[in-house]
Amino acid sequence: MDVKACIFDLDGVIVDTAVYHFKSWKRLADELGINFTLHDNERLKGVSRVRSLEIVLEIGNVTKTEAEKQELASRKNEWYTEMISKMKPDEVLPGAKEFLQLVKNAGIKTALGSASKNAGIILDKTGLTPFFDAVIDGNHVSKAKPDPEVFLKGAEAVQVDPKFCVVFEDAIAGVEAALAGGMKVVGIGSPEILSKANLVIPGLSEMDLEKLKAV
Ligand code: G6P
Ligand code: MG
Repeated sequence: MDVKACIFDLDGVIVDTAVYHFKSWKRLADELGINFTLHDNERLKGVSRVRSLEIVLEIGNVTKTEAEKQELASRKNEWYTEMISKMKPDEVLPGAKEFLQLVKNAGIKTALGSASKNAGIILDKTGLTPFFDAVIDGNHVSKAKPDPEVFLKGAEAVQVDPKFCVVFEDAIAGVEAALAGGMKVVGIGSPEILSKANLVIPGLSEMDLEKLKAV
């Protein structure tokens, strides 16, 4: 395939922020008397902030009003942003920077397609901003993955037809979003979980241009 753009999810593909999300959701859950485990945290991957909160509340069988939910979500986000503001370039996942450089050198466009409203600060703190031709994040979209909106906007921003785009995703909802957008998708993680992806690899350190063209 003639790949003209690569669109990357952020959390779990480029950086491992799941641990920070977990710590801050756990702190909130503790305050609410909800038992929230690392296993539960898997359900929050790729899911928007408010939906994540709803899942945490569901786990604890706790009901809150819309106004209370807003307040709880922003409390969690304050703790989360405090942690990510201390992120360093060495927190970029193995092979991510190298693969981004490889893709850029090959004249292929790069875009970010993330549900996070904190993508800008994470790219900034880890020194990755210059590697992206376009950044589409939670501030630019109204429909969450598995809706393809975030990836379609990414393709549009780099002016590439979706059929020439390859998406990199670690979440099932993200894989579905890419396919719904008419794009090819490389899953990052386990082939059992990401079975719908065109190719599944453990991480970007396992990726090269040959595999990209064969997707
Ligand atoms: C990504 C992460 C999710 C997170 C979401 C929103 O998709 O995988 O775990 O809930 O972004 O992140 P935000 O930074 O906007 O709270
Ligand atoms: Mg992700």
